[in-house]
Amino acid sequence: SRPLLVDTDPGCDDAVAILTALERADLEVVGLTTVHGNAPVSETTENARSILELVDRTDVPVAKGADRPLTVPLRTAEHIHGEGGIRGDLPTPTAASRPVDVHAAQFIVEQARAHAGELTLAAIGPLTNVALAHAMEPDLPDLLDELVVMGGAAFSSGNVTPLAEANFHTDPHAAHRVVRDCSPTLVGLDVTADAAVPPAEIESLPRDDSLGRAVREWLTYYGDEQLEQYGIESAAIHDALVIAAIVDDGVLETERYPMEVGIDSDIARGALVCDRNDVRGEQPNGSVALEADYERFREIVTESLERSLDG
Ligand code: BDR
Ligand code: CA
Repeated sequence: SRPLLVDTDPGCDDAVAILTALERADLEVVGLTTVHGNAPVSETTENARSILELVDRTDVPVAKGADRPLTVPLRTAEHIHGEGGIRGDLPTPTAASRPVDVHAAQFIVEQARAHAGELTLAAIGPLTNVALAHAMEPDLPDLLDELVVMGGAAFSSGNVTPLAEANFHTDPHAAHRVVRDCSPTLVGLDVTADAAVPPAEIESLPRDDSLGRAVREWLTYYGDEQLEQYGIESAAIHDALVIAAIVDDGVLETERYPMEVGIDSDIARGALVCDRNDVRGEQPNGSVALEADYERFREIVTESLERSLDG
């Protein structure tokens, strides 16, 4: 099985992504590194630990990371994901899931070296830890097999500003560095906005205990008000599309482009700019997802969730 490290800010869609990865026999989750984002890092770390406790996987190490963006002030999203950064009734973490003694950035570097050429890094929160890891180990991109990032809105509107997606907007300087220097595959709002699990499939998931109820809340986390506002019936599970893409390389259609993240003006803060017409004549520095196979996405996610809930 392939080693996978997940850098995350749980977060309802992060939680679904984590469960999806944990239940795959073809992936070995070598750790969760946590970052500020949907809530302060103390809370996203607790949430990561609670998720592991809920599914009895405290063997997976957790490394706590950055508590703020590199340059701009902290901005969190409890209004979307719920108080404490996540919905659902989660257990208070025990000593069994206590974080390891190294910073997430250091943990990323150590795992990349330990699995040189083989590790996939899924970055599904603001990119602060990944940028710090790259600052510590400039060969990080070569050490990784793949870096797959949930972030950006290259060809569609943002969800925080007209141009910017939340993970990139929250730490634009980190996103700028990772996009410029780390050769990522970007899974942005262009494709994740439609990555939802339909209500009928959510209803048919087994179990009505705390895990079953939590999973249902994570799959509908926008809440009725927002679902109505967006005219949709279930929430976009952005981060889980990253895991589905790692599992099956037929899930995304991607294209390589020269690209850059805006940092210098308010309106362009965190905006992912792709030079699709090659007007600047630069080399491509990463891939962007253009289309997704949502049927396959739903299969991968619900298969894992059913297995989680069966266990
Ligand atoms: C991203 O922002 C976070 O709120 C979600 O967890 C996801 O990673 C979507 O823009
Ligand atoms: Ca996230």
